[in-house]
Order: sequence, then C-alpha cells, then structure tokens
Amino acid sequence: MSIASAKILPSPIACCVAVGPPTVTAANDDKVRWSPALAAAGGSATCPAGWGRRLGVAALLLLLAATLLLYRLCYATAGATVCAPNSAAGRLRFPHTQRRLPAAIIIGVRKGGTRALLEMINIHPQVMRASREVHFFDRDENYRRGLEWYRKRMPFSFDDQVTVEKSPSYFVTPTVPGRVYQMNPSVRLIVVVREPVTRLISDYTQYLEKWAVERRPIRSLAEMVLRPDGSVRAESKLVKASLYQRHLKRWLEYFPRAALLVVDGDRLISDPLPEVRRVESHLHLQPYIRQRHFYFNSTKGFYCITADAGVQGKCLSASKGRKHPDAEPALLDALYRFFAPHNRKFFRLMRRNFSWPIGD
Ligand code: A3P
Repeated sequence: MSIASAKILPSPIACCVAVGPPTVTAANDDKVRWSPALAAAGGSATCPAGWGRRLGVAALLLLLAATLLLYRLCYATAGATVCAPNSAAGRLRFPHTQRRLPAAIIIGVRKGGTRALLEMINIHPQVMRASREVHFFDRDENYRRGLEWYRKRMPFSFDDQVTVEKSPSYFVTPTVPGRVYQMNPSVRLIVVVREPVTRLISDYTQYLEKWAVERRPIRSLAEMVLRPDGSVRAESKLVKASLYQRHLKRWLEYFPRAALLVVDGDRLISDPLPEVRRVESHLHLQPYIRQRHFYFNSTKGFYCITADAGVQGKCLSASKGRKHPDAEPALLDALYRFFAPHNRKFFRLMRRNFSWPIGD
C-alpha cells in the first residue's frame, strides 16, 4: 500500500485527530500508523509541521485540568453527592472514604413520613444515607451477624459526613433501644410522628394494598381496631404503633431527651423546610437545605425534591402518599377519643404540643 492511498485529513485539527487514534485508514482498508514523519512525507501540504503535537499537548492539558476540577469538586466541597449520587454511592468508592456506622438513625414511626425525611435530609452534602432499611437492631437474625455486617450496609462517606439510616420498626421493638445504646450512646435519634389516627389509617391503607397483592381476604378497619363492644383494641398492632409515649419512654430509659428529635410528620407534608431545618440542627450541620430544594407537585399532591447540583430531583414512589379509604365517623370518633389522653401524655413527655385532638 502506498502512503498516497492512505486517508490523510486536510486540516491541522485532522492531524490531531489522527494522532488520537494512531491509525489512518487506507483505501484498501489496511491500517497504517500515522506519525509526524508520515505527515511530513505524505501530508505536509495539509498538516503544518508541529500542529499535531501542539494540539495533542493542548488536549492533554485540557484533560488534566478537567480531572483536577473534578477532584476539587469531589473533595474540597465535600461534594460526594455530586460525584457519587447516592444511588451509586454504595458501589462507588472515592479515596479517603469508608463505610461508617450511622451517627444518626430515623427510628420511626412507621407511616410517619420516614422516607420523605430521609430523602430530604439527604440533600445536605454532609449527609450520606443508607438507601434501604437495614433492620439490623430489630431482626435477631441480622443483629446476630454483628456490627461489621451492619457497617457494610452503610454508604461510603468522608469523615466530616453524617451517615444516616432509617428503619421505622426500631421505634416499637422493645429490644432495640438497648442495642442501639450499646452501639453508640451518643447516636442522634429522630422520630417522625403524625396525628395518631391519620398514621393508623395510613398503616391500614398499606395493609389493604398488601392484601390485594397477595390476594388475601380484606379485613375492615373496624374489625381490626375495635372490639365487639365498640371499644378500641389497644393491643392491635395498628393502634399500638400510634401510642407514641409508650415507645418513647423505653428509648428515654437509655437516651437523654436531647438525643431524640421529634419531627412533626404532618408539617413535613404541608411545609417541609422548618422540620428539615430542625433535623440539620439536631445533627449539628450547617444550615444548607433551602426552600428552592423543594417544589409542590400538584399531580402527586406532595412536596418533591428539586433537581439540584448534588441530588437528583424526585417525588417519592406511589407507595408514599396513597389515597386513604373513608372511615365511618363513629369509628373515627372512637379512635380520636381513645388517643386523646395518650396525646396529652406524649406532649408532656416531649415538652412539645402538636395540633392533635386532646379531648376536654
Ligand atoms: P400516606 O401514604 O398514608 O399518605 P413512611 O415513609 O414512614 O412510610 O411514611 C409514608 C407517609 O409519608 C405517606 O403516608 C405520606 O403521607 C408521608 N409523606 C410525607 N412527606 C411526603 C412527601 N413529600 N411525599 C410523599 N409522601 C410524604
């Protein structure tokens, strides 16, 4: 094959391109290695001497600058979320990061808004969250696997970041507070509560969906929470989870009140920022999350997260924000009356009032 039959592109840029993949295609599809000498011999008229090398060096410098910029973005700005969006954070590992036991745990309450809170606080660049519920402390088979097993389920983080986990059943499981204390007596705890009857109906709505999927017979709400004489079954799982002060008392046997932040899940729905700010402060983080990080999605009927430098914009899945079934007024009345004294006790215990019915 003659050099003349090789395709030499007629511009300095083409010279550089030819340097990149170091071959040029010949007419008969043979490949010849391109070199400045080759250009001088066959293409000197179209490739001024030295251009290819200069452009090559410029491209290399550009690549180096881009790499340095990315490095700076990742490390200097604690922007792990920028460089390793959390969906991939469990798999991606940057130098100087490691998996750490959580410094903060959202312990419940089931259907309180725990997922929404976790995703919202995760906007903060200094927060790394375990995206799945780990159920380490409440499931004996997991707990027996030991803290190292637990640690390995956490995302990689820098040492100035706070790892957060959420498993709502921690709140109601009697063995959990002692186990968490053993792991770290200084851990920060967060519990998201909603008006107890609303939480209960949300929980029941989740059962309805589960039964439909599993093709199991549907039980009515009244059947689940009322005795035949119309009184409320305090031992029902649905009711028990809404008896917040009972569970909190167990946590307060181990942890000081200041370690435990109660988030108002109803306000988290209507106006998330103030509640999220309280969480930032509880985790000793600089305020970072702002109103612009949220927008109200009228189709979903809830606040969603705005796409921003650090996080992917998103609304929660369809399993969050389900339509609740209508409940009989008499059943609602019985439930509100049942919870009123418990609500009063809860307010006293936590030294905070919520806009829930407390009776006369
Ligand atoms: P519903 O589905 O009954 O409305 P959890 O994550 O603890 O299971 O809580 C689920 C509840 O979070 C939902 O209950 C919903 O009301 C509430 N929630 C709070 N903020 C939300 C948000 N921004 N998007 C969707 N659901 C949210």
